This record gives sequence, structure tokens and C-alpha cells, in this order.
Amino acid sequence: MKRTAIFGLALWGATAWAQTAVTPAQIKAGSEIYALHCATCHGNHMKNPEWAVDLATIPKDDHRRFIQSVANGRGNMPPWGDVLKPDQIEALWAYFSQGEK
Ligand code: HEC
Repeated sequence: MKRTAIFGLALWGATAWAQTAVTPAQIKAGSEIYALHCATCHGNHMKNPEWAVDLATIPKDDHRRFIQSVANGRGNMPPWGDVLKPDQIEALWAYFSQGEK
């Protein structure tokens, strides 16, 4: 665990580390979960969604809001808290906040 954290720090820089401690492994895991569960509504690679909200318009620095909306659902989005484990939702956050530039 510690080794991964240090690796993430080296790769993403001190600012990202201080905020979220996101690791490249998390981003990769998140992109796979996203492709499986989220892309149908929010678009491949979070771009050109069919109908759901464009994730590019959602703030990428609001960890709490992201976790709450995804885990508990929001508006027409179903809750994911029963489907995904907390660490999978954290991986989605990693992908959402830093995975696509
Ligand atoms: C069935 C279609 C559907 C799927 C699948 C879906 N979403 Fe959504 N999502 C929506 C809709 C619709 C909204 C807009 C909700 C609203 O504000 O009314 C939304 C909103 C969001 C928001 C913004 C919430 C906010 O705080 O404003 C995030 C972040 C999000 N989705 C992430 C995800 C992630 C991550 C997944 C995969 C686990 C996912 N969504 C899967 C339909 C979907």
C-alpha cells in the first residue's frame, strides 16, 4: 500500500497527492468500471453522452459531491452504492477527477 502511494506521489505531483491520493492503478480500475457501468449514459471516455449530464460540466474538485451522487443516486441517475464497493467508487473518482484530460 505504502509503495503504491509513493508511486502515485511521484507520478501525479504533490498537489494531487495532498487532495486525493489518487494512484495510476486506481485510474485504470476506474476507467474499466466506468466503461462497464457508466458509459451507456455518460458517453465513452466521459464524452458525448447520449442523454445524461455531460460529466465535463461537473466540478472535478468536489470529492464529497461525487461520492454522494454516485453512491446515493441523483435525479434520474440510479444509486450505485448497492452495486459497487466503496473502493470501486473511489476508483471512479480517480478516473473522473484525473483520468481524462
Ligand atoms: C441510467 C443512466 C445513467 C448511468 C448508467 C449513470 N448515470 Fe450518472 N447521471 C445520470 C443522470 C440522468 C444524471 C443527472 C442527474 C440529475 O442531476 O438530475 C447523472 C449525474 C451524474 C453525476 C453528477 C452528479 C451531480 O452531483 O450533479 C455524476 C458524477 C455521475 N452521474 C456519475 C456516474 C457514474 C460514475 C456512473 C457509473 C457508476 C454513472 N453516473 C452512471 C444517468 C446515469
